Amino acid sequence: MELLYLDEVDSTNKYAKENIDSFTDKTVIYAGFQSAGRGRLNRKWMFTGSGNIYASIILKPSCEIKDVYSNLTQYLCVKLCETFEKYGVQPKIKWPNDIKINDKKISGILAEAVIKNGKLKGIILGFGVNLNTPKEILEQIDQPATSLNIEISKNVDKEIFLKKLLENFFLLYDEFIEKGFLLIKNDYIRRAEFLNKEVTVKVFDKSISGIAIGVTDFGALRLKDKCNKEHILFIGDIL
Ligand code: BTN
Repeated sequence: MELLYLDEVDSTNKYAKENIDSFTDKTVIYAGFQSAGRGRLNRKWMFTGSGNIYASIILKPSCEIKDVYSNLTQYLCVKLCETFEKYGVQPKIKWPNDIKINDKKISGILAEAVIKNGKLKGIILGFGVNLNTPKEILEQIDQPATSLNIEISKNVDKEIFLKKLLENFFLLYDEFIEKGFLLIKNDYIRRAEFLNKEVTVKVFDKSISGIAIGVTDFGALRLKDKCNKEHILFIGDIL
């Protein structure tokens, strides 16, 4: 694994995408300042101070696209949860890969793939983690948000958190690529906050509501609508 620090960047994901050919597999970029961070659903990811993590993991597992790559965000999500737990907090997962503590978002993941001439050039797993954000700044975020320093009432060393996370991420990464979501299914389900609840999922420009009854062996959401029809959702966001 190679770790690269940038003082300042518009978006670590954008930078990784634009320079994909110059990075080797398992390179991680993180930035001290991110001026135009991007989130899922065309949202922005606000810069909330240099004590937080703005990072992208660049992966080049193969030139062909494999189904398991779409589960990498869930793998990272579990690894982030395990890292948070080392600080004594109890993170919960909102399918597919938001992390919340006490019902407030603490971390988000944005995965992007670079494909040229039908070949996969790389996968970029971008993630932001609120580690040291003051309350007044959290209140400026457009959804309920928290930060690890607030949850544990002390500042968090960003470098140490990142080191713990990345060591844990790469420990089983190769095995995950081989075995897929089943390797982490129990770890994922154990932390899932959406199960057996009424949820609305946005899939592109449509939304679908129902009870989240489970997660398949491939990480997809099982949703039962009011007509008792089961839907299996591979992509989307719980609103
Ligand atoms: C989300 O929850 O909407 C995903 C947020 C992802 C934010 C991170 S910060 C580092 C990386 N670079 C970006 O522009 N976005 C991701």
